[in-house]
Amino acid sequence: MSTLHNLRIEKHPLGVFVLEIHRPAALNALNTETLKELKATLEEWTALATQGVIRVIVLTGGGDKAFIAGADISEMKDKSSMEATLFAQLGHDVTKLLELMPCPTIAAVHGFALGGGTEFAISCDFIIASDKAVFGQPEVGLGIIPGFGATVRLSKFVGMPRAKELIFTGARIKSEEALRIGLVNKVVPSAEFKNSFLALATTIAGNSSSAVNVSKHLMNEFSETVGRDYKLDSEAQEFGSLFGSHDQREGMTAFVEKRKAQFKSAAEPKGEKL
Ligand code: COA
Repeated sequence: MSTLHNLRIEKHPLGVFVLEIHRPAALNALNTETLKELKATLEEWTALATQGVIRVIVLTGGGDKAFIAGADISEMKDKSSMEATLFAQLGHDVTKLLELMPCPTIAAVHGFALGGGTEFAISCDFIIASDKAVFGQPEVGLGIIPGFGATVRLSKFVGMPRAKELIFTGARIKSEEALRIGLVNKVVPSAEFKNSFLALATTIAGNSSSAVNVSKHLMNEFSETVGRDYKLDSEAQEFGSLFGSHDQREGMTAFVEKRKAQFKSAAEPKGEKL
């Protein structure tokens, strides 16, 4: 594989591999280069997991502030609908590799996991959070929808009503609330975080990998009622269709210019006054 600019890899005993997204200056935001590096790495790791060389993958973020602060808004800002759909589809290539990886994938979340951050975390089998984690789907505040799978996967973690509330409000929630609603399995003090997720991954890696991997495969298959690909493709198309709209341009320009977005105001009700 060619040199990786935005990823760091650690190999631990028993086939535990840690994949760190490392763009701390941009809070590990997902630009095209990072997504392509993730895709290439996870494709290679799919083969290694099939061979039993990799037994557990932990996805985490570099620096001490973020897991992933979302898709890269500076890069996305001026995309056309078509380019945005392709960008969402590239994100889906990565989320599906995480979800369908033959071995378990664990998201170890410390700091911000916003937008694509929460979406990458829920593409893993489950999430372990430090006490400094923050989750959320802020896309509606940027004039778009989640594009890396939240409309499909978030409800599997927290149930449909809570998934809707998180997506409609764009609210950020901290670790304890994420634990309460079932988004994360466990919250660990920051000082013990790395030892704790490595210990958990090592426990899993110490079990029969064929038994663990078959369990994962069956549980994934049984949870899909309508085809995953149809749902993810629909999300990517709708994500793209919002690009070029007033609210997308304004929402992302406002982020880059560090000001509050001025979205189109609500339409006046027609007919009699309410
Ligand atoms: N895309 C591109 N750059 C991003 C980013 C993103 N999603 N999130 C953070 N950054 C960049 C900031 O622009 C800033 O860069 P600069 O130093 O060149 O100005 C740097 O990362 C640090 O972020 P900053 O906003 O200064 O840190 P903060 O601690 O004040 O706030 C967040 C942290 C995560 C709350 C804030 O960065 C944020 O809201 N990010 C966007 C989250 C989002 O909407 N994600 C969904 C995208 S679809």
